[in-house]
Amino acid sequence: MRVVVTGGAGFIGSNYVRRLLSGAYPAFAAAEVVVFDKFTYAGNRQNLDPVAEHPAFRLVVGDVCDDDALRRLLRADDIVVHFAAESHVDRSIDGSAEFVRTNVMGTGALLSAALHAQVRKVVHVSTDEVYGSIDEGSWPETHPLEPNSPYAASKASSDLLARAYHRTHGLPVCVTRCSNNYGPYQYPEKIIPLFVTNLLEGRKVPLYGDGLNRRDWLHVDDHCAGVQLVAEHGRPGAVYNIGGGAELTNRELTERLLAAVGADWSMVEHVPDRKGHDLRYAVDITRIATELGYAPKVSLEEGLAQTVRWYRENRAWWMAIRGAASRS
Ligand SMILES: NC(=O)c1ccc[n+]([C@@H]2O[C@H](COP(=O)([O-])OP(=O)(O)OC[C@H]3O[C@@H](n4cnc5c(N)ncnc54)[C@H](O)[C@@H]3O)[C@@H](O)[C@H]2O)c1
Repeated sequence: MRVVVTGGAGFIGSNYVRRLLSGAYPAFAAAEVVVFDKFTYAGNRQNLDPVAEHPAFRLVVGDVCDDDALRRLLRADDIVVHFAAESHVDRSIDGSAEFVRTNVMGTGALLSAALHAQVRKVVHVSTDEVYGSIDEGSWPETHPLEPNSPYAASKASSDLLARAYHRTHGLPVCVTRCSNNYGPYQYPEKIIPLFVTNLLEGRKVPLYGDGLNRRDWLHVDDHCAGVQLVAEHGRPGAVYNIGGGAELTNRELTERLLAAVGADWSMVEHVPDRKGHDLRYAVDITRIATELGYAPKVSLEEGLAQTVRWYRENRAWWMAIRGAASRS
């Protein structure tokens, strides 16, 4: 069996690959694992260093928009886990072209190649941001898609393509929609690694607006465990929300990060709010919990402490990224 992981050099994809190859998912223990990644600014070979010498690991550098490369890559019976995407909301506000290209066109190309190759299953990894913003309660998978940022709109479009490939062609594709992730190896532009690395360098952290936006924070291991359950047992054509971490305002999150590195509110700089900033996201995880037995395992206390420790102990990893970003 082969598992093809697009975007496997990014934050979540590389976590999935490292866990897969370390035996965390026994049903796939014998699988060959092929990472297919373009290595954009967010892709990093170091994220795969722990598995680079594993005999079952293979790396293919390529673009999910490249039909020919995808056709050469995919084989009948492959399981494809599709993480590759442009993933940062702020970048999509600055310009949406790459988001439309990779997230929409790239997913379309991948689905088409998967159909041609007659793969066993595709898991399309999406986000809760496709639902929009919700003041109270939580979204079931049947909630209409009302994305507000160009990033979320591009992911919603890719979800609809996945649905269409299932309905039109019978492609065995599942969609997952997860809440905000955190953990080791996350590119330091997203709030948790940005704040932690700034604080470790003695720099201030930029808090958007009043800091009252609320998010469900899920450890990346729990997201990947949900993706794996869907890869193994998800019903073709079905959408599964993944979440159930801890809901916090950005202010509360900031307080926890300050405490974790021993800093105080003098290190917080209030900056104008993100345009169109969604107030709250919350997914209803009843479907994946009841159908597939999913339950998150990592508490926020334990997960944040582990994450902060990782950034403390892996300064070279993020200093290299910061150096490259300041030179570009
Ligand atoms: N980070 C989160 O909190 C979160 C939450 C829910 C869902 N998601 C989804 O999970 C997936 C992974 O997110 P992430 O945070 O790991 O992203 P990331 O930005 O860290 O990694 C994206 C990876 O995709 C690769 N990539 C980008 N464009 C490509 C292309 N055209 N062809 C091939 N590879 C390409 C990059 O090189 C990188 O390795 C995304 O689809 C994202 O929408 C993320």
